[in-house]
Amino acid sequence: MVEIPSLLHAGYHHPVQRPWQAERALTKASLVYPIFISDQPDDKYEIKCMPEQYRWGINRLAEFLDPLVAKGLTSVMLFGVVRPAHKDARASIADSPENPVIKAIPLLRSRYPNLHIGCDVCLCDYTDHGHCGTINDDGTINNTDSVKRLTEIALAYAKAGADYVAPSDMMDGRIKAIKQALLDFGIAHRVSIMAYSAKFASGMYEPFRDACDSAPAFGDRRCYQLPPSARGLARRALLRDANEGADILMVKPGLPYLDIVRDAKNDFPNHPIAVYQVSGEYSMLWRAAEAGVLDLQRTVIENLESMLRAGATIILTYYTPRLLDWLSA
Ligand code: PBG
Ligand code: ZN
Repeated sequence: MVEIPSLLHAGYHHPVQRPWQAERALTKASLVYPIFISDQPDDKYEIKCMPEQYRWGINRLAEFLDPLVAKGLTSVMLFGVVRPAHKDARASIADSPENPVIKAIPLLRSRYPNLHIGCDVCLCDYTDHGHCGTINDDGTINNTDSVKRLTEIALAYAKAGADYVAPSDMMDGRIKAIKQALLDFGIAHRVSIMAYSAKFASGMYEPFRDACDSAPAFGDRRCYQLPPSARGLARRALLRDANEGADILMVKPGLPYLDIVRDAKNDFPNHPIAVYQVSGEYSMLWRAAEAGVLDLQRTVIENLESMLRAGATIILTYYTPRLLDWLSA
């Protein structure tokens, strides 16, 4: 015989009661859509390994985003993609007026006055060597010089009108330097910093590197991105960035790092926690669904609800266009 305290089914027997068991609901307002802006104005180039994701030229942003904004898209994060001939050792094009992100911001701002516009800040999209910082003669990262460049780039995006900047480089001390620069320029009140704080050296960024043509030409990123098994280091990185003035703390990738998301929420209950469902997570689910192995809608939503359960309130996902439909139904 089942004892009375053992009776759980009554709590979720009706569909209306199931969401009541959640601490946080998945809503359109929790989503950030990462998008790729090409330096070729008429581009619509489908990214190999990321079906239905494109590099968009600035002349085609309206065609791309009008329907999504109409369906309730509230926040985007911009990545720039430039031709190899425009890359150099110091990522000079990252903060030049020719940068596709710097050109896109005012266009988006005028067409979608309420859209929340953010920019990924890194060097790897724009360096000829493909690393996230500048490089010493011996091939190691020059942290001081890298932070200087990252600060210049973040400031350029902020001046162009970005609502937030998101440094993804994992250099030491960049959040403090960027916050100080925003303050010195008098715009710290209107530009927030979403810090890629617990960013791990992951095999799941591979499709993204194809999207941005940003794979390192030599070596890898293991000297600046975190080792996948490093829980303590991740907590120290979160603490460091919180102390340096990050407004939002991010964990990346998502699903395999939900313990880190929970650590972030426990350690920083007063900060919004973001989680990035990365390109490899996108592709894995897509390919599994394509192969008839699982149902895409059901599984994507399950993955994202797990992220919310772990403590996130913001989810960066390439599934945003699909979710805007799924969450309307
Ligand atoms: C660049 C950057 C990467 C991602 C976001 N910003 C790639 C990397 O660090 O190698 C990954 C995004 C994804 O895989 O979806 N600093
Ligand atoms: Zn980078």
